[in-house]
This record gives sequence, structure tokens and C-alpha cells, in this order.
Amino acid sequence: MTSPAEVQPVTQSDSPVSDSSARPVLLLTRRLPDAVEARASRDYRAVLNPEDRAFSGQEIAARAAEVGADAVLCCAGDRLDAATIAALPRSVRVLATFSVGTDHIDLEAARARGLTVTNTPDVLTDATADIALLLLLGAARRASEGERMIRANAWTGWTPTQLMGTHVGAKRLGIVGMGRIGQAVAARARAFGMTIHYSNRRRLAPELELGATYHADPEAMLPVCDVLSLHFPATAETRHWLNAERIERLPPGAILINTARGSVVDDGAVIDALKRGRLAAAGLDVFENEPNLHPGYRDLPNSFLLPHLGSATVETRNAMGFKALDNVDAVTAGRPAPDRVV
Ligand code: DGY
Repeated sequence: MTSPAEVQPVTQSDSPVSDSSARPVLLLTRRLPDAVEARASRDYRAVLNPEDRAFSGQEIAARAAEVGADAVLCCAGDRLDAATIAALPRSVRVLATFSVGTDHIDLEAARARGLTVTNTPDVLTDATADIALLLLLGAARRASEGERMIRANAWTGWTPTQLMGTHVGAKRLGIVGMGRIGQAVAARARAFGMTIHYSNRRRLAPELELGATYHADPEAMLPVCDVLSLHFPATAETRHWLNAERIERLPPGAILINTARGSVVDDGAVIDALKRGRLAAAGLDVFENEPNLHPGYRDLPNSFLLPHLGSATVETRNAMGFKALDNVDAVTAGRPAPDRVV
């Protein structure tokens, strides 16, 4: 374990436990955008991670104890399981995640321990929807194959039958999970002339539905999904939701888009369907066990793969960081957190 002292010294005498007038101690588990770290350092005794080391859950808890953290600003790749939460020092009042997803945090353990957990909804909706469209177009139009051909200096010139893909206009896009991001994907896909179908726990009001066809049962929607885009959280119930049986319900040659979480698809079933052409292509930004994704994806010509870039714009990552800090500000000042999950 790297001692927090190697990262940024925070001596015990600085601890707010021993000096209630001092600024609270905020532990940042990863390196964050400059503007976010600047604000964190202005308002807190911030313990940064300039080398951006990926710490284990136990290391995060040990660092938090060592520096007497009042708050921890954690990220999607951190493992805040029950053992980590139990090991956090009592001084920690809030776990503010730099993500909208909270599947890396054992929320029940946090609740039981009386720890506030917050996330960053809304600010990454557009960026994530943009990536979903990039994946949709990239997968449908064989962008990965074309790019690799050029980089390998294997392009011998234009031919009438080269890398013919799927035209997305007039195709049916099925969205599972029509929250903020699902709706933003629908808005973009409409501009490409796609017809929108969706499944969601609740039907949307007509002004949000905008003519999309609602399917109370996602199973019933699958046969009309020329493109299927997933936008629901990873939970024990949704693990491997897209399995071999559900893939068989899709139209032959359907395209899969996943910007939600990797664990909601069964990789073995998806890879098998891509190999057989049962799925024409998949555009994936998220993977089970990131960054150690199923190796089968790498060799497939019809997989268009991105390394979890959904929210990766400067503007969005700044906004996520500021939102996380707003939540830390609220809890450390004794106010309700604006984005409280637990
Ligand atoms: C999130 O916020 O949950 C994303 O997956 C990380 O950008």
C-alpha cells in the first residue's frame, strides 16, 4: 500500500477530529480534473492521488483512517464493498461518488453504518447519450474495421462492396430503461430517422414519450429491436440480463449498444451471437470486470469497443466533480446532500 504520506502529507495534528475549526479532510481516491482538484484543495484539506494509483477497497479505508478523512470522493472503479465500508474510520460522514452509477458501493452496508452516499446524476446525460450514438453509428457502419484497415496500410482503394454496413435511418431502436440517458439517446436517434420503442418500469408522459412505443414487458419489445440500447443500472437482478435466450428474441442481424454497465450482458452469449452473425454488431463502452474484459471481444471484427468513455469530456468530468463536491460541501456543513442515494 502507498502511504497517504507519500501522496500528500496530512499530519494527525491537521485532523479535524482534533481541531473542529479546521477545514474538513477530503480523501480523493483518484486523480480528478485540475479544476475539481483546485476547488477541493481550496475548500478542504484535500488528500490527492497525483499518480492516479488504483487503490483496493482496503487501501482506501486505510488511507481514510490514516488521514482522519471526514469525506471520501470515490470513483466508479473503486470497490466499496461491505468489508471496505466496515473498515472506514468513523470520521467519514459521506462517500461522494464521481459517477451516476453506484454499483461499486454496497449501499446496504453504507445505510447500516449511517454513511451518506451521493452520486452525480444529470450532468453526464448528454455526454453518455453522445457516446451511445457514436457506438450505434460506429457499430452499424463498421468504423472499427475501416479504421484498422487504414492503420494497417491495407486499404487498396474504394470499391462498391467494401465494408458495407447497416443503414440506421428507418430502423427501430429499442431502449431498455428510459430515464434521463435513455430519453437523450432517443432524441438523438430521432434525428437519424429511427423509430423509438422503449421499455421502462413506468410509462412516460406523452410530452416525454414523443411518440415512442411503450412496452411494459421488455421481453415483448425485443422482437422489434433492430438496435437494442441498454440504459438500466447493474444490480443483482439485472446481472446478465441480456442472455442467449433474449438475444434469440431479437431480429436476426440486430445491433447491441451498451453504455450502462458490462455486467448487464452475458459476454459469452453476446460473443457467440456476434461470431454467428446472429448479432450483426455490438457497440460497447462498458464491460464486466473492467478493465479485464472478456478477451473474446478483441478478435471480433464486428465489435466496436471503447474504454468506458461515456462521460469523458472535460466539461462533463468537471461538472461531475463539482457536483460531487457540492454534495460533500452539504454534508460537511450539516445540510442535506442534493444527490443523496443513501
Ligand atoms: C457513471 O457515472 O456511472 C459512469 O459510468 C462513469 O462515467
